[in-house]
This record gives sequence, C-alpha cells and structure tokens, in this order.
Amino acid sequence: MTERDTTHFGYKQVPVTDKESHVAKVFDSVAAKYDLMNDLMSMGIHRLWKRFTIDKSGVRAGASVLDIAGGTGDLTKKFSRLVGPSGKVVLADINASMLQVGRNQLLDHGYGDNIEFVQANAEALPFPDNSFDCVSIAFGLRNVTDKDQALREMQRVLRPGGRLLVLEFSKPTNPIVSKAYDAYSFSALPLMGSLVAQDSESYRYLAESIRMHPDQETLKSMMEQAGLCLCKYYNLTSGVVALHTGVKA
Ligand SMILES: C[S@@+](CC[C@H](N)C(=O)[O-])C[C@H]1O[C@@H](n2cnc3c(N)ncnc32)[C@H](O)[C@@H]1O
Repeated sequence: MTERDTTHFGYKQVPVTDKESHVAKVFDSVAAKYDLMNDLMSMGIHRLWKRFTIDKSGVRAGASVLDIAGGTGDLTKKFSRLVGPSGKVVLADINASMLQVGRNQLLDHGYGDNIEFVQANAEALPFPDNSFDCVSIAFGLRNVTDKDQALREMQRVLRPGGRLLVLEFSKPTNPIVSKAYDAYSFSALPLMGSLVAQDSESYRYLAESIRMHPDQETLKSMMEQAGLCLCKYYNLTSGVVALHTGVKA
C-alpha cells in the first residue's frame, strides 16, 4: 500500500477508504455522553471558545447559516437565536447518532422552527453553490478524511461575501502550556473517557487527532488554497484552540 492510499486515524495509518468508518465508530460510541464529556474535559471552556466564534461570525437576523459537523448543536443553538424567525440554520453532520442527540436536545429546548437537520459529509455537501451567508465547522475538520476537499465544499456553498469559521484544536504557542496540555490530554482524557463514557480508546483518538491536525499557519494556507480570502486566525487559550476565518470573494 502506498502513502497515498493511507491516512492517519489518530497516530495509526489506515486505508483512506476506512477512516470514515473509524471516525463513525468513535462518534457512535461517544454521542450519548458527548456534552457531559465536553464540559468535563475542557472545564467548561469550550463554551467561551464557541461564544467567541459566534461573536466573530457577523451573522444577523434573516441570515442563512450552515453548521457542518454540528454534532449536538451548540453553535446551531446560538445561530438559531441570532438569525431569528426570518433566517435559517442547517445543522449537518455525517453521523446519525450525533445528529439524533442534537435534534432531540434542540427540540426539547424549544428550538427547531428555523433549524433543518441534514445528514451530510463535509466532503460532499448536498447544497447548491452560493447558499449560505455563513458556514461553521467546530471541532469537526480534524475528523474529515480529505480536509482540502471539505474546505473547497464549504467555500462553494458560501455566498460571495459570506464567512467561513473553523474552530479547532491547534498548536499551543507557549511551551509550558504545551507540556502541561500534553500531559493532561494523554493521561486525563482517556481516564475520564473510561470512567464517564466507558470508552478510553475514543478519547485517546481525540488526543492523537489533535496532534495530527494542521497547525495555525498550515490551516490558514489550506483555506487560501480552497479559494477563501482575508484568511486569519485567533489563538484562544494560548493556541490550544484557534478560530480561523475566511471570506468568499
Ligand atoms: C467533536 S464533534 C463536534 C461537534 C460540535 N460541532 C461541537 O463543537 O460540539 C465532531 C463532529 O464531526 C462530525 N464529523 C466527522 N466527520 C465528518 C464529516 N466528514 N462530515 C461531517 N461531519 C463529520 C462527527 O460526527 C461529530 O459529530
């Protein structure tokens, strides 16, 4: 098998054609405990990263937004309030289990009137060109097999002037933070996964997939390659996470 036939799944090399099913198993396994684990693992800080993302979105009443890899719908909820009854948010995810948990929670909390739920792969979005004022992907891109293709798809479905928001783990900018973060993610995360979700493997994948994800500058270049302009990024929590933004010309 050549290097082009394989890709990384965490630190493992797997056939390109198999990555999607490995990722699917992870999210089938974690779906029910996903929100609880997010709060525990990040000590609630993921809420601040998501709030920052919404603040940078520029989304207003009446806008149409795609939240791809939207999972249990944290960003979708916030966008739904911003766009109001005259706007629309599509919560899309490749994984039926994550989508089901997201859909149930949003409907239980009275959301839904302006939200559409779609099962879709970020690499092949089932929407016409120029459909959305804003596209977001939060903690999703690192799980996608062909990230360049997914970025091209997000660029394609944006309207001219529309904004892409990529919120993802990144490379810590401070060596002390980096060491502490390594120790935390390779010991505490699998332990918490095992205790709370009875699944340490998926949380080991989480730590490994973060290390394999492109750093800030590389992702910025990938977005430019995909045709986006005015690309920039904001380091959050010393670069543990970065928000990349870009605009369709
Ligand atoms: C870590 S969760 C993030 C969920 C949510 N965006 C959040 O920030 O809480 C990653 C999500 O990406 C989805 N995903 C993975 N690969 C995908 C793909 N190729 N296309 C669309 N969604 C994908 C998973 O099913 C999962 O729901």
